[in-house]
Amino acid sequence: MTESVVTVKGIEQTNAYSRTIRFDWDAEASPGQFVMVWAPGMEEIPLSLSSVGDEKAITFKVIGDDTRFLGDLKEGDRIRVRGPYGNGYDLSAERILVVGGGIGIAPLLPVLKAKRVDAVFAARDAAEVSYADPIGEELCGKHWICTDDGSMGEHCNAVQMVSKVLETEGYDMVIACGPEVMLFFLLKLLNEKGMRCQMSLERYMKCGAGVCGACMIDEHRVCRDGPVFTGEQISRMTEFGTGCRDACGTFVSFR
Ligand SMILES: Cc1cc2nc3c(=O)[nH]c(=O)nc-3n(C[C@H](O)[C@H](O)[C@H](O)COP(=O)(O)OP(=O)(O)OC[C@H]3O[C@@H](n4cnc5c(N)ncnc54)[C@H](O)[C@@H]3O)c2cc1C
Ligand code: FES
Repeated sequence: MTESVVTVKGIEQTNAYSRTIRFDWDAEASPGQFVMVWAPGMEEIPLSLSSVGDEKAITFKVIGDDTRFLGDLKEGDRIRVRGPYGNGYDLSAERILVVGGGIGIAPLLPVLKAKRVDAVFAARDAAEVSYADPIGEELCGKHWICTDDGSMGEHCNAVQMVSKVLETEGYDMVIACGPEVMLFFLLKLLNEKGMRCQMSLERYMKCGAGVCGACMIDEHRVCRDGPVFTGEQISRMTEFGTGCRDACGTFVSFR
């Protein structure tokens, strides 16, 4: 773990809702790890690395004050990053299917760069699709795009798409990142099929380093024990898919 002030090397629009900031940082990082990002004028927030080489990147959906602040930065501006934190994905399985929902595709990019695997890219609509062809073709083997409203690719959600893919393709491991509701129903499907998976979870984070307990899900600290958990671990979590703690530690139900 290291803490550095880095210079924004480039900032690009990734899709209609998201932006990518690139910066040089020589910290060792692996696919699935995240950093705590801060600059004067914003609260510190966790963001996954969407590139893990010497040139690092963070890719984020602009949804509130801090992501808006980051999205407005310009080349040459400086941000503080600390980390990388968390465990990252185990990529040792032979045949891997990657499933990304919405902005959840961005943390999976380092997986696609580390190993040629198949992928499902799911989005709400065409404007949220980040890596349509030819980028998708370059990044993965077979890949399928689907949108909730049918404006690009297949007209279905991520779980329906995976179910369809599994009718003809076989995998030893599914690696997924996306909204918890997607992960919940995907896990249900994969458990029914007896398939192994790893999923990246999100909880409210303060220290990012396993100290404060803000990010607990059952007895797990998501920042230190995760954010990547196996399907077996998640299946035993009573809080998964039911709710999470807010900034004050109050449990907020998803239902
Ligand atoms: C390990 C991890 C990795 C993440 N990676 C990405 C990523 O790669 N791309 C991306 O777009 N988003 C990612 N997020 C979510 C991102 O942290 C939030 O979108 C961001 O903090 C929103 O801040 P805001 O001020 O713009 O919005 P706000 O309006 O302040 O918050 C909107 C929502 O974002 C979440 N959030 C806010 N602050 C935090 C915090 N400190 N910790 C966790 N969640 C928070 C809460 O659910 C909140 O309701 C990740 C979260 C975690 C825990
Ligand atoms: S954010 Fe502090 S323990 Fe996880």
